[in-house]
Amino acid sequence: MYLSICCCFLLWAPALTLKNLNYSVPEEQGAGTVIGNIGKDARLQPGIPPAERGGGGGRSKSGSYRVLENSAPHLLDVDADSGLLYTKQRIDRESLCRHNAKCQLSLEVFANDKEICMIKVEIQDINDNAPSFPSDQIEMDISENAAPGTRFPLTSAHDPDAGENGLRTYLLTRDDHGLFALDVKSRGDGTKFPELVIQKALDREQQNHHTLVLTALDGGEPPRSATVQINVKVIDSNDNSPVFEAPSYLVELPENSPMGTVVIDLNATDADEGPNGEVLYSFSSYVPDRVRELFSIDPKTGLIRVKGNLDYEENGMLEIDVQARDLGPNPIPAHCKVTVKLIDRNDNAPSIGFVSVRQGALSEAAPPGTVIALVRVTDRDSGKNGQLQCRVLGGGGAAGGLGGSGGSVPFKLEENYDNFYTVVTDRPLDRETQDEYNVTIVARDGGSPPLNSTKSFAVKILDENDNPPRFTKGLYVLQVHENNIPGEYLGSVLAQDPDLGQNGTVSYSILPSHIGDVSIYTYVSVNPTNGAIYALRSFNYEQTKAFEFKVLAKDSGAPAHLESNATVRVTVLDVNDNAPVIVLPTLQNDTAELQVPRNAGLGYLVSTVRALDSDFGESGRLTYEIVDGNDDHLFEIDPSSGEIRTLHPFWEDVTPVVELVVKVTDHGKPTLSAVAKLIIRSVSGSLPEGVPRVNGEQHHWDMSLPLIVTLSTISIILLAAMITIAVKCKRENKEIRTYNCRIAEAKWRRGTP
Ligand SMILES: *[C@@H]1O[C@H](CO)[C@@H](O)[C@H](O)[C@H]1NC(C)=O
Ligand SMILES: *[C@@H]1O[C@H](CO)[C@@H](O)[C@H](O)[C@H]1NC(C)=O
Ligand SMILES: *[C@@H]1O[C@H](CO)[C@@H](O)[C@H](O)[C@H]1NC(C)=O
Ligand SMILES: *[C@@H]1O[C@H](CO)[C@@H](O)[C@H](O)[C@H]1NC(C)=O
Ligand SMILES: *[C@@H]1O[C@H](CO)[C@@H](O)[C@H](O)[C@H]1NC(C)=O
Ligand SMILES: *[C@@H]1O[C@H](CO)[C@@H](O)[C@H](O)[C@H]1NC(C)=O
Ligand SMILES: *[C@@H]1O[C@H](CO)[C@@H](O)[C@H](O)[C@H]1NC(C)=O
Repeated sequence: MYLSICCCFLLWAPALTLKNLNYSVPEEQGAGTVIGNIGKDARLQPGIPPAERGGGGGRSKSGSYRVLENSAPHLLDVDADSGLLYTKQRIDRESLCRHNAKCQLSLEVFANDKEICMIKVEIQDINDNAPSFPSDQIEMDISENAAPGTRFPLTSAHDPDAGENGLRTYLLTRDDHGLFALDVKSRGDGTKFPELVIQKALDREQQNHHTLVLTALDGGEPPRSATVQINVKVIDSNDNSPVFEAPSYLVELPENSPMGTVVIDLNATDADEGPNGEVLYSFSSYVPDRVRELFSIDPKTGLIRVKGNLDYEENGMLEIDVQARDLGPNPIPAHCKVTVKLIDRNDNAPSIGFVSVRQGALSEAAPPGTVIALVRVTDRDSGKNGQLQCRVLGGGGAAGGLGGSGGSVPFKLEENYDNFYTVVTDRPLDRETQDEYNVTIVARDGGSPPLNSTKSFAVKILDENDNPPRFTKGLYVLQVHENNIPGEYLGSVLAQDPDLGQNGTVSYSILPSHIGDVSIYTYVSVNPTNGAIYALRSFNYEQTKAFEFKVLAKDSGAPAHLESNATVRVTVLDVNDNAPVIVLPTLQNDTAELQVPRNAGLGYLVSTVRALDSDFGESGRLTYEIVDGNDDHLFEIDPSSGEIRTLHPFWEDVTPVVELVVKVTDHGKPTLSAVAKLIIRSVSGSLPEGVPRVNGEQHHWDMSLPLIVTLSTISIILLAAMITIAVKCKRENKEIRTYNCRIAEAKWRRGTP
């Protein structure tokens, strides 16, 4: 009984399918009549949940059917859960569609979040109406001199049924002696109307009254019919009838023409004079009510004006039947047809409807071509005025052209079916660049001027863990002074991850490695959250000048985290925190006075400068130099031993008192130094009275004299001993072959005091 005519599939996107369902239902069925099962007919599997996870709303799993558009919400509905299409009340085709041959209701249903069902329900006519005439008698006055061939329009019958069941034809019965004939004519819209045509001249004197029966038949099976009796009175008249210049006119009129606009000025002329020649215009009796609502006719002038709102979209063509008759007795009216063709004006802006917008948001990983919305655009105008061009407005966001050229929004429209468009992504998305878009759709028709409409929706881009943490540097160089305290902060590494939330939360760790045989974990540690690196031991520059290790940065993305690493080089710095201190000669106020005997000669050791430095290594290695007072090069200093010697045998002749400035420098970084001023005087023979014994010169003198005496004594004794041994050896050599002179020498030495 209910026929699913078609089910055509149109794959238009990975997720969305358009389905075209045609149904038909006879009129006059009671409320609750099931017309079809959308779910089944669209070959859905209601058990499978929707593929999209976007909305996350509480939509039932068993399937959901959302009516997007319903041309007759009071008549039809779809059960949201079962998908059954049913009638809500008895549908009377005739009241719904009046005279239209095709009576169709349309619905658009969004099923299971992934299918658009375009549903057409045709209301089938049943022959439930018989034709009917407005009255059961038609009175006609026909002048006896009406010529054969003269036509008289007859009232039409009306059958609200459509198509085959509508009015089909007229029959004239009881045609008296073949005086009358019936001609059935068609209007432009297909409706038929009868005209009575006089076949032979009427003779009032012979018969002044004729009774005819007009039968209207519909095309039903069996046909229904109606009859009307036509009473023709033959009257005596010599009048001339009014005559229209033409039997029909075609007038083109723009829709929405203002009230009072002249449609046509009809002229019917009557040759008679006086009242017999005065013409009265009116709509013919069978002109439909709608035409009477839209137009007015001036009875005297025949001027037809616009009275109502002419809407091309409602009816593009209107026919006005006009009759003109004179005021004389027994007038014979003249008939004329005015066809008004409406010209479409671009009076309707396009309308944009969102059938479905991916609620919530879109993952930045969505590949190009991902459908984010389904849009329907319509324009009630026809022709060019209804031809639409749609696009996504570029660069709607406040960021305004950040991306450069005009089309900065990564979305485009794809036309899919009739006026359905999908909004799809046209390139990969990156949340880190822009995380929200305002998608504006513009529809523009082809009228002149064109009308446009826009509609917007927001798309939020969801994060994916697509960025690994990135270190700000590939190599971090940190420095630490040796002898640091364990736990000292060395510096920080930083890795940035633009992803959101956990996907961008970075934690740091040190990759396992060894320095020599020792694990790196005994050297340094890293704070997992902020990347701060701390020393775990005290470093010794002499042992470890530098070492390297790798730091790993890892985000907390799920299910898979991303990571990257960077190298950290720690350089241990040598510390030079102690300056040298000069301990010899004894300084007073950084000054020492030295006395050198006259004629001491070349290379005489004036003094030894000795300094101490608490630093180790290079920082403790000292170098001595004379920085001032030696312009004449009278003295020299040994850079490493600090011994000052005379360079000139008669230095005292050049300058009797020399003030040398000696500087001691260590080799640390930076270098530290100490300075002493040595005042050197020449003295003759013994020390003068009153000179403080503060310098090494006096010690030098005191010590060297006994030393020379001692050494000289030892040398003499040694010489004597050697002569003795030599003599003794020569004598004993003859007795003992293996005599060892050294043993004897040692024995002898032990024996000496
Ligand atoms: C279903 O109805 C639509 C609109 O009337 C029509 O365009 C389409 O061709 C029909 N489909 C079939 C298969 O009859
Ligand atoms: C009727 O006559 C008037 C005045 O002469 C003229 O303006 C008008 O165009 C005529 N109408 C038709 C339909 O010819
Ligand atoms: C989107 O852009 C349009 C046009 O630029 C604007 O009218 C609308 O208010 C914007 N909507 C949002 C949510 O920003
Ligand atoms: C829409 O029409 C208005 C004028 O009605 C015009 O100013 C505007 O530029 C049009 N917009 C688009 C996107 O065509
Ligand atoms: C992190 O990324 C995953 C996929 O890589 C995504 O499912 C998740 O929603 C993201 N988290 C946040 C907070 O955006
Ligand atoms: C460190 O990163 C480089 C590339 O950046 C990679 O080749 C290497 O495998 C990583 N090392 C470790 C231990 O993850
Ligand atoms: C130390 O030397 C400075 C200048 O060289 C001098 O002003 C000061 O008086 C001296 N002090 C003593 C105690 O001799």
